[in-house]
Amino acid sequence: MKIAILGSGGREHALTYAISKSKKTKKIFCIPGNAGTAKIAENLELDINNFNLIYEFIRREEIDLVIVGPEKPLVDGIVDYLRKKNIDVFGPKKNSAMLEGSKIFTKKICEKYKIPTANFGIFDSKKFAVQFIENAKFPLVVKADVIAAGKGVYICNDSNEAKLAINEIFNGKFGPAENILIEEFLDGEEMSFFVISDGNNYRCFQTAQDHKRVGEGDTGKNTGGMGAYCPSKLINNELEKKILEKIIQPTFNALNEMEEEYVGFLYAGLMIKNNEPFLIEYNVRMGDPECQTILPLLKSDFLDLILACTKKELKNFEINWKNEKSMCIVLCAKGYPDKYDKDIIIKNLSSFKDDEFNFLFHAGTKLKGKDIYSAGGRVLNFINISNSFFDSRNNIIKQIKKLNWKEGFFRKDIGHRVIKN
Ligand code: AMP
Ligand code: GLY
Repeated sequence: MKIAILGSGGREHALTYAISKSKKTKKIFCIPGNAGTAKIAENLELDINNFNLIYEFIRREEIDLVIVGPEKPLVDGIVDYLRKKNIDVFGPKKNSAMLEGSKIFTKKICEKYKIPTANFGIFDSKKFAVQFIENAKFPLVVKADVIAAGKGVYICNDSNEAKLAINEIFNGKFGPAENILIEEFLDGEEMSFFVISDGNNYRCFQTAQDHKRVGEGDTGKNTGGMGAYCPSKLINNELEKKILEKIIQPTFNALNEMEEEYVGFLYAGLMIKNNEPFLIEYNVRMGDPECQTILPLLKSDFLDLILACTKKELKNFEINWKNEKSMCIVLCAKGYPDKYDKDIIIKNLSSFKDDEFNFLFHAGTKLKGKDIYSAGGRVLNFINISNSFFDSRNNIIKQIKKLNWKEGFFRKDIGHRVIKN
């Protein structure tokens, strides 16, 4: 089969790697891909937001299946567009992608279906939002109703911080804002919970915890993710049952009532407190870096799994996993998530030997001739699977030190909540 994978991050390199292992795969195109995907697929510099261009290419190359990595084309309706043209695509359609595209849409579903989540209010003017703030309890959370890669979220400790957030959002920092969401601050521990769905049935697809803050001890600014580990230390049978009964199933009930057949990954960002789950947000795709962390544990053929979803045959598909644990540490460009340099050569990549326990997935990299250069803030993902998070972390740190990329930095404490030392 000929498969096209849309996106250019670590998640997409991991997806490409997993697809490349299937016997059914003849050729993979990554649009636009990175220096890592270039090794196992053909990269193509096309704008993934230009659906027409993408379709022309798919038709010309007679591509059998398209897998969409990031949220933006999903929220913008690429699946609806390609399906109308009879192309097989793995990913949810535009209306279902609102689960990620609009936090208010998701909150309204939570309200109607009694899904546990933070108490919230929706405000359509600065005036009413500020009035609410004057008498509110702190901390609280102010959110823009957009996909802003986590950036439209302000955790506010007092009314001045909240007013600043309200002003920034209504002044258009994240694009035009008609509404703003103000919600109760949930304390607890965060967990990423994944399911995969074929439109009729869904199955669990592992749990993970990621580290979003840039600094050791989970301090400093939010990032796209500095590392992750799978499975989450929080998961147990009782909690999984609660998550499925109180959060996932009601969400699929809501989708069914809207006559939406959800095909794709669904990623629930949860807060867990005293073994009780609360929904923080939905994403309509795999997580990054969770995808890089989880896929190396998959034993089943990934392409077969995706095909089972596009053909609505997931019910009879057995998803098998390795028993090990997995960890991913992200090597970033110095200065990230603020200002950082791009276009810095990364030598010595051949020092990394991948094998059945060690994986290297590129994120912000590009190929120039035979050399590899950085092209983003998060540059490389190092993954190790083993029976112990402690061993995995040590192995990865050794690998990163061996690479010795002077322009990079990484967190040495990924998994600190599960590793007692
Ligand atoms: P979101 O984009 O909604 O996932 O928010 C980004 C991050 O902000 C989450 O991963 C949490 O760390 C934090 N966050 C969002 N909403 C809340 C909340 N109600 N209580 C506590 N933390 C939150
Ligand atoms: N790991 C966070 C995300 O993918 O949104």
